[in-house]
Amino acid sequence: MRSPHHTAAICGSDLHNFHGVLGSADVKIVLNTGANQGIGFEITKSLSSKPGYHVLLGSRDDHRGIKAAKDLKDQGLDVEPISIDRTLYVLINQHLCRRAHNRSLYSPPQRIPKARTVFMSSITGSLTHRPVDLPVYRSSNTALNMLMLHYAFKFKDAGWKVNARCPGYCATNLNDFAGMDTPENGALNAVRLATLGEYGETGTFTSKEVVIAW
Ligand SMILES: NC(=O)c1ccc[n+]([C@@H]2O[C@H](COP(=O)([O-])OP(=O)(O)OC[C@H]3O[C@@H](n4cnc5c(N)ncnc54)[C@H](OP(=O)(O)O)[C@@H]3O)[C@@H](O)[C@H]2O)c1
Repeated sequence: MRSPHHTAAICGSDLHNFHGVLGSADVKIVLNTGANQGIGFEITKSLSSKPGYHVLLGSRDDHRGIKAAKDLKDQGLDVEPISIDRTLYVLINQHLCRRAHNRSLYSPPQRIPKARTVFMSSITGSLTHRPVDLPVYRSSNTALNMLMLHYAFKFKDAGWKVNARCPGYCATNLNDFAGMDTPENGALNAVRLATLGEYGETGTFTSKEVVIAW
């Protein structure tokens, strides 16, 4: 585990510096915030099992991050724990799940070429669907979708793919494991969006690859 200060310096720098740290210009680096459990953990597991992907497993709590990363490293996966201090940019934006005010902190790294950014949203943020009585959670997801659209538009010509997605109702700590799907399934579309090719979509809001009405 790097110290939080060191971590922030690396993640705030450009990707070339990061390649230097890793010693390879071909490695794709993923920063996955909120990755010590649930869907974020499964996304980390899936992405790090792909050849050429090095995943930074983000966690606010160093001990939980180290433990989660060890579980995956013991399986031979290319994972590194990293402290999230909320000034970092994100690729998989898990940590924005519970507090709406955190969402204003997202600031993408503007010098990274052809970045892929996935916002973890929820169908509850749709203005069309009204499935649950959670006004703050719903509103924060609606705002998150707006932010996603802003960056998708801003970086479209630069080749970025910026999308938001809902994982479906998955059994995780978030809902006391009441969800009806698995976190593994909830991770699938995020992994797809994080690995989009040149002609992949941008500025979308999807659930398991089905477009959700705004
Ligand atoms: N599960 C579902 O059915 C469902 C449905 C729709 C959308 N989602 C979305 O999917 C994402 C992942 O949820 P999950 O179900 O996997 O939940 P989870 O198992 O509770 O995991 C959430 C992760 O986010 C981190 N986190 C929580 N609050 C944070 C904060 N304020 N700042 C930084 N990190 C924070 C947690 O880290 P700590 O251990 O440090 O708290 C944890 O690693 C969330 O954005 C959620 O809104 C989930």
